[in-house]
Amino acid sequence: MAEAGTLHDAFIDELRDTYDAEKQLTKALAKLAKASSNPRLRQAFESHLEETKGQIERLEQVFESLDEKVRGKHCDGIAGIIEEGKSIMEEDFDETTMDACLIAAGQRAEHYEMAAYGTLVAWAQAMNHTDAAKLLQQTLDEEKAADKKLSGLAESGINQGAADAAHADDDEEPVTAAASTARKSSAKAGRR
Ligand SMILES: [Fe+2]
Ligand SMILES: [Fe+2]
Repeated sequence: MAEAGTLHDAFIDELRDTYDAEKQLTKALAKLAKASSNPRLRQAFESHLEETKGQIERLEQVFESLDEKVRGKHCDGIAGIIEEGKSIMEEDFDETTMDACLIAAGQRAEHYEMAAYGTLVAWAQAMNHTDAAKLLQQTLDEEKAADKKLSGLAESGINQGAADAAHADDDEEPVTAAASTARKSSAKAGRR
């Protein structure tokens, strides 16, 4: 029987998974930027795309610091999230609604990355891979900042613009208490 794997093996495996996820995301972020109507949203995706290229190089440094070969392993998780984003982009939404949906898709990816890097930092620290932990923490901070920026854009007008377009004929409809509550909670869904 083969020897049981260690946390170090799981760590390297997770690094390879994340390396592949970042590579998939460079393509996805370019598509999100292209599909954005709001110029600030487009800019946010474009600048995170540049940041992501740096994150790929940083992961290469992490592999080197551990004397490991730089290698990716297909990340099914991010592939699924990207696939969902693609189907949203195929929908026929008005511009602001599409922007709100692109933010939702982008934030799913950022949260996936935050979970991955959070684990990687914790494992690197636990195993005293100090250099790796520092590098991974820098990326975790960037992912958190990117997520926060998207929340800010959603809350500074994009969600409201989309909501206003959805309920432009509110005056004509009698609004029941239940419908009103449902609207309020769905408008809050994009907040963090
Ligand atoms: Fe990333
Ligand atoms: Fe990211």
